[in-house]
Amino acid sequence: MKGIILAGGSGTRLYPTTFAVSKHLLPIYDKPMIYYSLSSLLLSNIQDILIISDPQSVPLYQKLLGDGSQFGVKFSYSEQRRPRGIAEALILGEEFIDGDHVALILGDNFFYGASLSEVFSKVATRRGGATIFGYYVNNPVEFGVVEFDETRKVISLEEKPKKPKSNYAIPGFYFYDQEAVELAKELTPSARGELEITDLNIKYLEKKKLYVEILGRGVAWLDTGTPHGLLQAANFVEAIQSRQRILIASPEEIAFRKGFIDKEQLLALADKQNKSDYGKYLRTIVK
Ligand code: DAU
Repeated sequence: MKGIILAGGSGTRLYPTTFAVSKHLLPIYDKPMIYYSLSSLLLSNIQDILIISDPQSVPLYQKLLGDGSQFGVKFSYSEQRRPRGIAEALILGEEFIDGDHVALILGDNFFYGASLSEVFSKVATRRGGATIFGYYVNNPVEFGVVEFDETRKVISLEEKPKKPKSNYAIPGFYFYDQEAVELAKELTPSARGELEITDLNIKYLEKKKLYVEILGRGVAWLDTGTPHGLLQAANFVEAIQSRQRILIASPEEIAFRKGFIDKEQLLALADKQNKSDYGKYLRTIVK
């Protein structure tokens, strides 16, 4: 399975767009925002990853992340010239996807929870159809929203509805079969001028090929794309990391625990950051 991180710089609600460089390069506490979405792909056992961003930010990602060999994975890069919608990532990624299954994650989505490695890797092995997630929130108007009947069967999906039919938001992490690229090409832009990912998911729903996994109480899903969300996520990471002396969303650690890299490679990564607590922590994992 292939993975795509969509991390464009435009449309940001964090600072004026004239200062446009991708917000996903900003730190959430002690590591760049993009590490969090990258970690979700690694937890799903995905090792072939395309990073899509705006033309001015792509070189910065290349500098930060390189070819991926340091994490035992492969990174490719692609430009999205204008923010024409989340579903456009699948069209831009057509060559990269090359007829495979694909997971698409938004660079500002943050997941944390004990069961996630299991949930994500199980979903990644599902063949046929699309899988999205549902997460109970108190502000569903800001998201894609999924409505269920009493047997948890999906009835409808809506993008930022004024009157949401449920409190279940759809996080920005989607798994698709090989049909997704062709279905994305059939989409027409919405009123806000974007190829909506919710419209693609509706196509799967109409074909009765849409699965929704509910992420329950033990999982944190945060949208870090606003000043409030960014601070909230940083506070969350700081609180758990200092209380438990662990790292949340360290690609180095996940790559090591998944067996993508060995002890020597992890120590080499730790050496690069020896002066920081992050680097010191990486050393302790080996011990
Ligand atoms: O966070 C989850 C929500 O993400 C979902 O519940 C919604 O269904 C989905 O449409 C999306 O909602 P937003 O409207 O909040 O997405 P936003 O425009 O903020 O973009 C999400 C990320 O993707 C952001 O980091 C910027 C990036 N992006 C977005 C678009 C539309 C791009 O790189 N290119 C794009 O064309």
